[in-house]
Amino acid sequence: MASRLTLALPKGRVLTDSLAALRRAGLRLELSDDARALRHDAGDADVIVVRNADVPTYVELGVADAGVVGKDVLLEAACRVYEPVDLGFAACRLALIRPEGARQPIRRVASKYPRLTARYLAGRGSTAEVVKLTGNVELACLTGLADAVVDIVETGGTLRANRLEEVDLILASSARFVVNRAALKLRAEELKPLIAALRLGAEAG
Ligand code: PRP
Repeated sequence: MASRLTLALPKGRVLTDSLAALRRAGLRLELSDDARALRHDAGDADVIVVRNADVPTYVELGVADAGVVGKDVLLEAACRVYEPVDLGFAACRLALIRPEGARQPIRRVASKYPRLTARYLAGRGSTAEVVKLTGNVELACLTGLADAVVDIVETGGTLRANRLEEVDLILASSARFVVNRAALKLRAEELKPLIAALRLGAEAG
């Protein structure tokens, strides 16, 4: 008998929604209560809990057969995985952000998404420098590290609290179910019905 599927799920707020979607699709998944556990023998699948940005790597290299990751992270990773389902949750947008009323030329842009930022700037004919940061990115344009940042806006709360504004929408994102390319063929019997059930669940909202 084939071993169980391994699923890579992002830690944090998306984990709960991912588990709910997978359970609605028919998987019995019980994670241990140990908040520090990283691998879970979770009933119908093995679940590994990884950083959001690492999900594409685990799935592309086949350590996980499938996983859940935001479209923003997936595009930034530029990896070769299948992306058969838009799960709908974790909706947010990637935007160019500046302090309210800022008008000076944009010479430097900070982001956790250097590839998408460079592509966006090139598309606008801008030669601005891209600086990679790993968190609290908005601080860069509050402190003068950069003239603008490219970051995620979800509720808009961070922007309002820091007197920042969205200047341009770059990308609308939401959580995607992603599948290792070889696994989709070799484990089609398990993955195809799961994909179909996840699609139905996403359509039902
Ligand atoms: C994300 C993002 C924004 C914030 C946007 O940060 O980078 O800072 O959420 O959400 P909002 O529009 O609802 O305020 P996250 O909390 O993931 O932490 P990070 O900045 O350390 O990456």
